[in-house]
Amino acid sequence: LERSRIVHLLQADQSPGSVLVKGWVRTKRDAKGFSFIEINDGSCLANIQVVADETLSNYATIRKMTTGSALSLSGRMVPSRGQGQRWEIKAESVTLVGHAPEAYPLQKKRHSDEFLRTIAHLRPRTNKYGAAFRIRSQLALAIHRFFQDRGFHYIHTPILTASDCEGAGEMFRVTTLAPGDAAVANDFFGVNAYLTVSGQLEAEMLALALGDVYTFGPTFRAENSNTRRHAAEFWMVEPEMAFCDLAQDMVLAEALLQHLAGHVMDHCAADLSLFARFVDKELMHRLAALVEKPFFRVPYADAIAILERSARPFEHPVAHGNDLQAEHERYLVEHHFKGPVIVYDFPKEIKPFYMRMNDDGCTVASMDVLVAGIGEIIGGSQREERYDMLRRRIESIPLAPENYWWYMESRQYGSVPHSGFGLGFERLVMMVTGITNIRDVIPFPRTPKNIAF
Ligand code: 4AD
Repeated sequence: LERSRIVHLLQADQSPGSVLVKGWVRTKRDAKGFSFIEINDGSCLANIQVVADETLSNYATIRKMTTGSALSLSGRMVPSRGQGQRWEIKAESVTLVGHAPEAYPLQKKRHSDEFLRTIAHLRPRTNKYGAAFRIRSQLALAIHRFFQDRGFHYIHTPILTASDCEGAGEMFRVTTLAPGDAAVANDFFGVNAYLTVSGQLEAEMLALALGDVYTFGPTFRAENSNTRRHAAEFWMVEPEMAFCDLAQDMVLAEALLQHLAGHVMDHCAADLSLFARFVDKELMHRLAALVEKPFFRVPYADAIAILERSARPFEHPVAHGNDLQAEHERYLVEHHFKGPVIVYDFPKEIKPFYMRMNDDGCTVASMDVLVAGIGEIIGGSQREERYDMLRRRIESIPLAPENYWWYMESRQYGSVPHSGFGLGFERLVMMVTGITNIRDVIPFPRTPKNIAF
């Protein structure tokens, strides 16, 4: 008999007869002469109910099975008389694969997110985290579908790099270990090496050859800010398009977020319902609105004027030339516009060197997409494709131009207007689940002082 997944069994129109199921005990209730065992195999949120009775030769062992134990069982799938479930399994054989003692930390009760973070190795076995990580998987699939259906090529950019894409100096340095565990800098590559903060610069080179491309991989930031939305290691989706300006870049960013929200609504209904019930009552309403309504678009200067007019006692001062802080972003999305907003044309001083200078000489063709609960979820821009402008920009900031010779050279050989953006994958999972802390959407989060597991 081949192993069945509970997700398929529960959807069956007819009983397949005999089935083999392997999973973990969520709960067990004993009655006189029989037990109900709720089994979860991770394929979906729901458990399947198993009825084991005293005719089984090892029934005495079964009665002693505890929450968290791993089982393999076969039996007949029959219509259930229990409420809210169509099928149950009448067990014919139950084997204990792995015992969990009474000390198993995930007994049937609600645990706080803070506690569950201390057992990151076990929390995927809870309903909430199981659902979050299944949704993560579905979102990854949906990202590839979205781009592949539009003719984009999936490219791989390096994790180890010598250049600082964002120029923000938030990079992790990579060293080798000498005998005795002393870190040795520079000896392997001959120059300082870092973990990448973004695959953008390399993705641009590929876009200037393959047209439309995207990366989807891990990126690293040594940002020492302990916030709900920053991780030291996170995944980023970075499309890059040749012959594309900022307006077209915005259209793609909007279409991508709408596609991804729609995909989880269509394909993860059961898992989403958990978040809608227990985490964020507004979730379904917000996702539906995000899919249906166009995003607002507002120039940075107007966004600042809106914030100034609001007369809110913001913690961080609002002034033209200052970057938008999380509290400003959330005011714009949640109070002023009441929907996703794309802020564009930021002052050049607060944006990286690669963004295209606007004709006003003060702003660059940049955009941030802001959504409720999170703030910035996407950052992107049209890139400076003019060699002289780019050279001047690089020379005006504390970056070593010699490290970017290859990047600049691409502007001398068939340079074209091109644009792209970066979508933070964890922030995306937060957006579609309503989970408010980035530590809870990634199985093993890396944040300051946190790398134990
Ligand atoms: O705005 P960022 O820094 O943009 C870039 O890195 C560009 N090179 C992307 C591009 O144009 N190809 O980051 C992009 C997004 C942010 O909007 C945010 O969602 C996410 O990446 N992000 C983080 N997510 C989690 N933890 C962090 N420390 C993050 N930093 C950025």
